[in-house]
Amino acid sequence: MHVAPYSSGCGGIVSGIQLASITSDQLIDLRLAFSTYGVLFFRDQNLSPKQHLEFAQRYGKIVINKFFKTIEHHPQIAEVRKEKTQQTNIGGGWHSDHSYDEIPAMGSILVARTLPKTGGDTQFANLYAAYDALTPELKKTISSLRAVHSNTHLYGENGLYRMTDLAEQLGGMDRVGDATHPVVINHPESGRKALYINPGHTITFEGWDFNESRRLLDELYAHVTQPQFTCSFNWLPGSVTFWDNRCTWHQANNDYQGQARLMHRITLAGTPLSAA
Ligand code: OGA
Ligand code: MN
Repeated sequence: MHVAPYSSGCGGIVSGIQLASITSDQLIDLRLAFSTYGVLFFRDQNLSPKQHLEFAQRYGKIVINKFFKTIEHHPQIAEVRKEKTQQTNIGGGWHSDHSYDEIPAMGSILVARTLPKTGGDTQFANLYAAYDALTPELKKTISSLRAVHSNTHLYGENGLYRMTDLAEQLGGMDRVGDATHPVVINHPESGRKALYINPGHTITFEGWDFNESRRLLDELYAHVTQPQFTCSFNWLPGSVTFWDNRCTWHQANNDYQGQARLMHRITLAGTPLSAA
C-alpha cells in the first residue's frame, strides 16, 4: 500500500490496495493514513454493495442516515442520487456529515455508481490545516466557544431541501434535531486540534445572537475555503472516497445539469467530541 498527498494541503491518494480484500496489516496502515490525511481517495476498486458493506464493517460500526433513501437489500447503504431531470443535488454546499447529532458520525465511505460524462467532482477541505493557520487572536477568540448544529433548516417541514425537487428522495421530516459541540475539538484519534463548525449545519455560537454569530462564522468559512486547504476529487468508475467528518468538509459540485449521478454512501459511527 502506498499513500501520497493528493494536493498540497488536502487529502491522500492510496494505491496498491484492494478494499474488497484488504489484509489485517493493510488495515492498520490504512487507519494510520486516514488519521494523517483526513480524506483518502482510491481508484479502480469496483466494490459491489456487499463488498462496500464488508469493508465498512471491518473498519468500524455503521450508522444509518435519518433522511436519505437506502438501496434495496442493504438498509445500511444510503443513496446519494441526482436524476437527469433534477436540478438540486444532495450535499451541494460545504458541510460535514451528521454534525447535528449528539455523537457525530466518524466517517463516510462514498462509492461511485453512475457518473456524469464530465463534472460532479467532490471538493474537500482540511480543517486541521485551516485551524493551524488561524491567527493567534482568532484561535483565542474561538478557544472556549461551543456551536449549535442543526438539520431543521434543511430537512424540517419548511427546510431548504424540502422546497426543492430533492424532496421526494428524502424521508424523516419528523426526525430533525440539534446538538452543540466545541468549536475547536481535540480529534478523538489523532489528538490534533480541528475546527469543528461547517456552513451546512452550524447555526450560531452558543450564547451569541444570530448576527454576531454570522459575522464570525463567515470569517472562519472564508478562511477554510482557501485553495491551500482544499482539493477537488474527480470521480472515475471504480473510485472510492473515505473521509473523516471530524476534520474535513466536503461539497458535491452541481455542474452536470441534464445528466444523472448516483453514489452509494456508508456512514461510520463516531465517539463523543471533546474540546481541545
Ligand atoms: C455525502 C455527500 C457528496 C457527493 O454523501 O455525504 O455529501 O459528492 N456527497 O456526492
Ligand atoms: Mn455529505
